[in-house]
Formats: sequence, C-alpha cells, structure tokens
Amino acid sequence: MTDFENTITCLYGDEGRLWLENLPNIVNNLAHRWQLSELHPIDNLSYNYVMSGWQKEKPIILKLGCDPKSFKNEIQALKAFKTFGAMTVLDQMEDVLLLERAQPGLSLKCYFPDHDLKAVSIACEVMKKLHTAPYPEYEFPTIKDWLTVLDKDHELFMPQLAKARVLKNELLNTMEHSILLHGDFHHENILEHEGEWKVIDPQGVIGERAYEVGCFMRNPKELIKHPDCLYFLKDRIHAFAKHLDLDPVRIAKWCYIQAMLSAVWSYEDNLSYESALKFVSLFEQLLDASWGF
Ligand SMILES: Nc1ncnc2c1ncn2[C@@H]1O[C@H](COP(=O)(O)OP(=O)(O)O)[C@@H](O)[C@H]1O
Ligand SMILES: [Mg+2]
Repeated sequence: MTDFENTITCLYGDEGRLWLENLPNIVNNLAHRWQLSELHPIDNLSYNYVMSGWQKEKPIILKLGCDPKSFKNEIQALKAFKTFGAMTVLDQMEDVLLLERAQPGLSLKCYFPDHDLKAVSIACEVMKKLHTAPYPEYEFPTIKDWLTVLDKDHELFMPQLAKARVLKNELLNTMEHSILLHGDFHHENILEHEGEWKVIDPQGVIGERAYEVGCFMRNPKELIKHPDCLYFLKDRIHAFAKHLDLDPVRIAKWCYIQAMLSAVWSYEDNLSYESALKFVSLFEQLLDASWGF
C-alpha cells in the first residue's frame, strides 16, 4: 500500500477504500467531460488525489478529494483569494477541482535549507496580499472552533495539552481583528507562477494574522531532521515578526498551540504525530529561553 492509500484508509476507512477503488473510473469520466489529456498523479500525494495534465493546450491540475466537506471550504477560500494571490479555479464539482497549473510551479521548498530566510520574506509578501481579501460572507470555521480539539483529554500528551490550553485562552482573549486566513500556509502550498508567487490548497479559517505563521514553521518535512532545526525556528520567528510587524512571542505561542493541534489531529486520525510533538518541545524551549524575543 502506498503512503497515500494508507493515509486515505486511516482517515476514511471503508469509504476511503471504495473511493480509491473507484478513482480510475472517476478520473476517466472527468477526463471525458473536461477534455483532459496526459493525466499523471504528482509525486507528493498526501490527503487528496492530485494529477497534472492538459486541457487542450492549457496546463492543468485535477484535484480529487474523498471528503466533500473540506473541499467546500477550499473552493470558497480559493474564490475569496481569487484576486489576492490564489491560483485560478477553471472548473469545479462537489469533490473535484480543476485548476490552472503553476508554471514553472517551483514551491518555496526550493529555498530550504540554504536560503531559508528568502522563503520567509517571499511568504510574508504573499501573506500581506492574501490578508487584504475582504471579510467573507461564506461562513468559514474560526480558529476558536478548530482549537476546541485541545480541550479533550489524551493520556499521551497531558502536560503539553495543559500548557496549550493556557496559551490558547490567553491568545484567543487578546486577538487582533479577525480576517480570512489560508489555514495551511506552508512551503509546498506556495508556488511560482509566471514570475509571481501564488497559493494553492487553502483550508479557509477565520482568525488573526499571527496564527498564519505556525504551519509554515513546521515545514518543509525535512526541517525536523535538520541538526539546526531550533536555530531555523528562532531565525524564522524573528524574520516573520520583523516583516509583518508582529510580536515574536505571540508568534512563538501560536506555533506551540498549532504544533499541539497538529499532534492531536494526527493522533485522532491514526497518523504519525511524533514530528508534531517534537516541534511542541522545540517551541517550548524557545518560549522558555525567550531567545531575545
Ligand atoms: N495549481 C497547481 N499548479 C502546480 N502544482 C500544483 C497545483 N496544485 C497542486 N499542485 C501540486 O500538487 C501538490 C498537492 O496539491 P495540494 O492542493 O496541496 O493537495 P493536498 O491538499 O493533498 O496537500 C502541491 O504541493 C503541488 O506540488
Ligand atoms: Mg497541499
């Protein structure tokens, strides 16, 4: 079983297995309907089945998801960010997206590890543009909704959960004004397209700007194995704070909370949570040492 098949069956059980079995049929029908050719799955599949190909002369991406609910938010967020830095949606159905394919499509991952802060400065420019999108009419979830997951007890992470709860209450009670956030803003979701950097794969969540930084901090996946991981995190926090005029301690606190959220989500979905938990401990070290924040 591939990692992708494993993720889908862990998340969706029998429904996921059935969806995987039907994929070739679904793709054939879509190819016929939208006149698509040369469809090939991309290398880094994670939660959705993503194929690159062509619609006549136009380079496209076909994205299929097993969960129509999360797709609904993604489609609405892509629409809301349409003129604020998101890739263009060419067509859509309940659980399928047809997107313009980024050209050349490099992701911000290409700057890791040698030019890491270059990726941060590009990410900040992308973020500034995204965050000027008008407050949406569609009812997106809020970060407060997402963080209720941390109120459930899990034997495995009680001390970390206790700290995350204190921090979450503090930050939620002192939030800057709320806006629409991308919600999954990391290197592989920021792509170069015709000389600009564009986002794909937004989850769409309402919250404050500083929240958006957390997910970027835990990526790319290779970061956690790097011997200087802690120093990368420290430098990134300083750089984000400077570019976005944010409080570095507040950023570090959101990072702690979100690493915990990621660990709990993975644990609940029977996926590996170890690297998220390592980040929790690294952010704790940064907060304790204060690192000149
Ligand atoms: N519009 C696009 N142009 C170029 N590549 C894309 C595009 N959309 C997705 N990809 C590629 O497919 C990968 C997975 O797509 P993504 O929408 O992020 O799916 P997931 O929700 O599974 O993370 C991306 O990291 C990127 O490499
Ligand atoms: Mg993605």
